[in-house]
Amino acid sequence: MNTKTSVISQAQLQEQFAFCDKIAAYWQQQNITPTAYVETYGCQQNEADSEKLRGYLTMSGYAITSQAEGADVVIMNTCAIREHAEQRVFGNLGALTHTKRRHPRQKIFLCGCMAGEETVSQRIKHSYPHVDGVFSTHHLWQFPQILLNILSGSKRQFFVEDEPGSIAEGIPQVRDSSLKAWVSIMYGCNNFCTYCIVPYVRGRERSRQPEDILAECRRVIEAGAKEITLLGQNVNSYGKDLENGMDFADLLKAICRLPGDFLIRFMTSHPRDASKKLFDTMAAEPKIAKQLHLPFQSGSSRVLKAMNRHYDRETYLEKVRYAKQVMPELVLTSDVIVGFPGETEEEFKETLSLIDQVHYDSLFTFIFSPRTGTPAAKMEDPTPKEEKNRRFDELCALQNEISIQIHQNYIGKRLRCLIDGTDKDLLTARTEGGRLVRLAGDPSLVGTFQSITITGATTWSLTGELN
Ligand code: SAH
Ligand code: SF4
Ligand code: F3S
Repeated sequence: MNTKTSVISQAQLQEQFAFCDKIAAYWQQQNITPTAYVETYGCQQNEADSEKLRGYLTMSGYAITSQAEGADVVIMNTCAIREHAEQRVFGNLGALTHTKRRHPRQKIFLCGCMAGEETVSQRIKHSYPHVDGVFSTHHLWQFPQILLNILSGSKRQFFVEDEPGSIAEGIPQVRDSSLKAWVSIMYGCNNFCTYCIVPYVRGRERSRQPEDILAECRRVIEAGAKEITLLGQNVNSYGKDLENGMDFADLLKAICRLPGDFLIRFMTSHPRDASKKLFDTMAAEPKIAKQLHLPFQSGSSRVLKAMNRHYDRETYLEKVRYAKQVMPELVLTSDVIVGFPGETEEEFKETLSLIDQVHYDSLFTFIFSPRTGTPAAKMEDPTPKEEKNRRFDELCALQNEISIQIHQNYIGKRLRCLIDGTDKDLLTARTEGGRLVRLAGDPSLVGTFQSITITGATTWSLTGELN
């Protein structure tokens, strides 16, 4: 792939910044400080995109608020991964007719992964006339232009043409937290797992230049970040499209060399591309959290083939064995899909046995949801919904048993944790492996690493005491 053609030039971005200035002037003339609300659905990539939207909005003079009611701009940054996620968005979008009626100058936009689906933009065009604009992830960098067009009285804006995707460096970001930073290292996906819509709505895989990533990491560390999570649909294929020969493990090492006391996490790792080199690098570098999210999706090699995952049960288990061997304290999590078209009871049992064998700390569990346009949506799917629900419940029950067992083993351990917030009158903290700990303590400790003794456990979290 030619990365050069997919880079948005600085001149193009400067033009967008000039639109921001015009928007700010438009409000200043009226002596109004406008407000904006961005609602984020889906994964961390959308969170990272919303930080950019808030960056543009702040640059355009908007104050960011936490509710749609009364906001001058409302943006729904959406997720298309499952039908349920989409239904929620359509429901909430419908409710905005009322907020707009009460505040007629409200401008409403829909962006994110749903905006990349032709059926969605058509539905909004025809059935949601209160929505002023729709733009797909490929067009996020043009948001100031879209907003200015609307404020200048243009007709509804649809920036939804399908594209392989681009990289825009230098969009301002307003981050949710100064303690934890999301840093995208690549965009898009080339894998085309047969159930998944992401490659259709986020375009082809493209890696950011290492110097841009390092500069961003340096900036967030200097601003106080103690935890950096590197983001990509498949971080292990980082660099394949670059000409400098750098791979993901090399990038991790380079980030570890940056000065400061911080932890690096990353997601998501595709098992096919998770290499021994990656695991060895994780084991050797103290700044890399010993935590791995390695989605297996199914324990059956036949189903994995039908999913186009490019690994089988044995290869997956072999990788996990190696990772645990070099990192005995590794916290392992995963994604799994129940009820993929044609999954038999035997094959489902293979998924259960894989879970039992690996002993994940926790799992993200999903029931297969057909996505229009993906190959799996056209596959024969004779298993009734009730049967899929039963399998799903059985799987969750097994995982809950394992999670509580693993959590109980933490009791009595002394761990270095990042105190990351407060919850009612308690502090919250994260172990290096990413497990949630609640403890009593002074809120001034938020943002520091502390040694904590674990004193209690539930399925979902731990309790502890400061040492
Ligand atoms: N890039 C990541 C996953 C991103 S999507 C990876 O490859 O691991 C997050 C999870 O959603 C997936 O791992 C999968 O378990 C689930 N998922 C994706 N499409 C789905 C679908 N159509 N139905 C049910 N679950 C799905
Ligand atoms: Fe979807 Fe597969 Fe790409 Fe993950 S690797 S985003 S599951 S196509
Ligand atoms: Fe959803 Fe898009 Fe992420 S479909 S899971 S928000 S990449």
